[in-house]
Amino acid sequence: MITREELIQCRLEWGQTAERIAFVPTMGALHEGHLSLVRQARAEAGRVLVSIFVNPAQFGPNDDFATYPRTLKADVDMLEQAGVDAVFMPNATEIYPAGFQTYVVNELMAEQLCGLSRPGHFRGVLTVVLKLLNLVQPDVAYFGKKDYQQWRLIETMAQDLAVPVQIVGCETMREPDGLAMSSRNRRLQPEERRKATLIFKGLEQARQMFERGERLASPLIQVCRSLLDNDPAFTVDYVALHTQKQLTPITESCVESAVMLVAARLGDVRLIDNMEFNLAP
Ligand code: PAJ
Repeated sequence: MITREELIQCRLEWGQTAERIAFVPTMGALHEGHLSLVRQARAEAGRVLVSIFVNPAQFGPNDDFATYPRTLKADVDMLEQAGVDAVFMPNATEIYPAGFQTYVVNELMAEQLCGLSRPGHFRGVLTVVLKLLNLVQPDVAYFGKKDYQQWRLIETMAQDLAVPVQIVGCETMREPDGLAMSSRNRRLQPEERRKATLIFKGLEQARQMFERGERLASPLIQVCRSLLDNDPAFTVDYVALHTQKQLTPITESCVESAVMLVAARLGDVRLIDNMEFNLAP
């Protein structure tokens, strides 16, 4: 575990070698999804730094900042086992000192999907990610496709603001029944946990329709949405079909590779998931 001063020292030392420096930002409560990013980083770079910071700026007043799981000891043990070189765990005042007033805002891609129900969320994410990237100065940073909109927003930010880092998107890790791994899954009641797999099932059914040749957005969305709507335990926020890179909504028919994105609540736990539908190149 290193402080901000040690991070800067560490970065200076690492910078003197030709080693590639990889960065995996997290909010802790680590699981196999996070570890898959760490492993990919470990395989592709000489040095791996992971940050753990539950970022207050990305939680709204009705979000779960206070109850977000915090499992620091277990997290650090897991990261040690995974062979990371350093774990940066800043406190809130190191990231947001008194007088902090500058934020990063995306004015297009963020104004949809999760951006609608979580106003300010992506502003908080982009701000903290840019700040962490500036502190760590990695060559490459790894993000999960599980948070698809977040990944594309970070990629777009790096491009728009000429941040000198390569952004890599990593595949979603799932439980054996298909549920995307998430720190929030541990807050599901047993009955909700059983039902949660329906999100994956819905996405999978839509993907199979797509594989069989269906290209119209509406039946693809409908097959996934109806599975969730038919179960009163779910409150669906959205089921939507977008282009993969710009995340533009597909209203008529897929003429390029697409991604179906879902957000739904089970009890008071908000779950998100998505699946890419690839057209042959
Ligand atoms: P957190 O939710 O802790 O996730 C950290 C990283 O792990 C993110 O890039 C996320 O997409 C990835 N991840 C989570 N579950 C995954 C899964 N099942 N499979 C693959 N990757 C998965 O996302 C955040 O933290 C924050 O918003 C952060 C980027 C750290 C900024 O505060």
